[in-house]
Amino acid sequence: MAFKKILIGYDGSDASKKALKKAIDLAKMCGAELHIVGVVRPFEFAAIDYIPPEEIEEYEKEEISKEERFLKEAKDIAEENGVKAITKVMEGEPAEELMAYADGNNCDLIVVGHRGVGGFKRMILGTTAGNLVKYANQSVLVVK
Ligand SMILES: Nc1ncnc2c1ncn2[C@@H]1O[C@H](COP(=O)(O)OP(=O)(O)OP(=O)(O)O)[C@@H](O)[C@H]1O
Ligand SMILES: [Mg+2]
Repeated sequence: MAFKKILIGYDGSDASKKALKKAIDLAKMCGAELHIVGVVRPFEFAAIDYIPPEEIEEYEKEEISKEERFLKEAKDIAEENGVKAITKVMEGEPAEELMAYADGNNCDLIVVGHRGVGGFKRMILGTTAGNLVKYANQSVLVVK
């Protein structure tokens, strides 16, 4: 079976780096295009104190540029391996945004790591990976 457009959810975690390698190998084998997507969560109001809107905006900008750097690194790795890569930073809930991207861009496979930056070391399957397996319209490869 050949895949034409492979989406990889990339959050810079070790697990997502490992997933990126597998996605690159697969893309190479299939001659597929690789879409590397990172999702930045909006600021969460966990603090009790009032936080000025400028500070929230500043925080979100920093998160976006951090994600852009991760994606640039990932794109370079893909292209060093002769795979055409497209990158995109999205904002929102990771699984939802990755699914919307896959649907909107006709991706035929979603690749993710089994855990990411948020989870505990002992976690077997993170919530993003789990929700993609449950709810995505595409096949999902969870790399361990
Ligand atoms: N914000 C994100 N943007 C892009 N891909 C992501 C994002 N978060 C997770 N992923 C993808 O999903 C994989 C699994 O991460 P997941 O979020 O499910 O686990 P976790 O962070 O360890 O746990 P949890 O989020 O439930 O605390 C990652 O390796 C990565 O491929
Ligand atoms: Mg996570």
